[in-house]
Amino acid sequence: MTDRKVAIVTAAAGAGIGAAISRQLAEDGFEVVITDAHERRCGELAAELAEKHGREFMSNTLDVTDFDAVGNVVEQVLKQYGRLDVLINNAGWNKLEAVAEMAPETWSRCLDVDLNGTFNCMRHALPVMIKQRSSTKAFEAVIVNISSIAAWETSTEHGAAYSAAKAGILALTRVAAAENGKHGIRVNAVAPGLIYNDFLRRIYPDEFFEGYAENRSLVGRVGQPQDVADMVSYLVSDKAGYITGEVFTVSGGVSPHA
Ligand SMILES: NC(=O)c1ccc[n+]([C@@H]2O[C@H](COP(=O)([O-])OP(=O)(O)OC[C@H]3O[C@@H](n4cnc5c(N)ncnc54)[C@H](O)[C@@H]3O)[C@@H](O)[C@H]2O)c1
Repeated sequence: MTDRKVAIVTAAAGAGIGAAISRQLAEDGFEVVITDAHERRCGELAAELAEKHGREFMSNTLDVTDFDAVGNVVEQVLKQYGRLDVLINNAGWNKLEAVAEMAPETWSRCLDVDLNGTFNCMRHALPVMIKQRSSTKAFEAVIVNISSIAAWETSTEHGAAYSAAKAGILALTRVAAAENGKHGIRVNAVAPGLIYNDFLRRIYPDEFFEGYAENRSLVGRVGQPQDVADMVSYLVSDKAGYITGEVFTVSGGVSPHA
């Protein structure tokens, strides 16, 4: 068994939050298991981290909507490292369509990736974490689910399917925290506001970004993936040992969670 803590990150190889979390956790000393639906980028990030840290990183192509594939990855992680300490559910998908015009496929796909995908990963990771605790009393595990301020904002900017899925993640987080505290497992959610990346810039209209830093953000800038990675780094650390079942907003004050 490795001495390092082992963290699985989903959707880890994109242009945004998942990759920033992976880089940060590697920096923090974790064995980071890079998983993403995009095969080539998965390998590229693993190679980048290996080059930077002088140690190998496991990478697996994984679509979180595939329940059995998630199970296979967890199995491979246990085979390779003998432990699983952290799960970061970062995979998300969205397509903006008003409810009155939404294709049923849009609704289903969004719920499937964002909410069911989070469930699929927790469903496979939790029994492993619970078992580890029963054999090693000191063992503590952490799950962080990436939600969004879309979970509670009254806005036309997010889309109802995405908002519903992200709100569902908050409920899933709270109940899983309640069920698993006794097993030494903490479960929290992070709800980002706008977190800039180049890919988003290409798919959202300019109006979405223009004036955001000046008029909406309370700190005069838009969020960066590293802002979320820093929060996750804290939540998975021992410093956050008394924190579970919570939602942490990272939105530059745009939409704080009460
Ligand atoms: N960027 C924002 O402004 C923002 C705001 C609030 C919440 N979020 C949430 O943060 C998370 C990360 O968003 P991001 O914009 O930083 O993108 P990201 O770059 O972290 O994620 C994009 C990656 O997701 C992967 N992916 C898509 N569908 C997948 C699936 N079914 N299984 C596995 N991987 C899949 C893609 O291959 C891509 O590499 C998402 O859950 C998103 O909803 C983002």
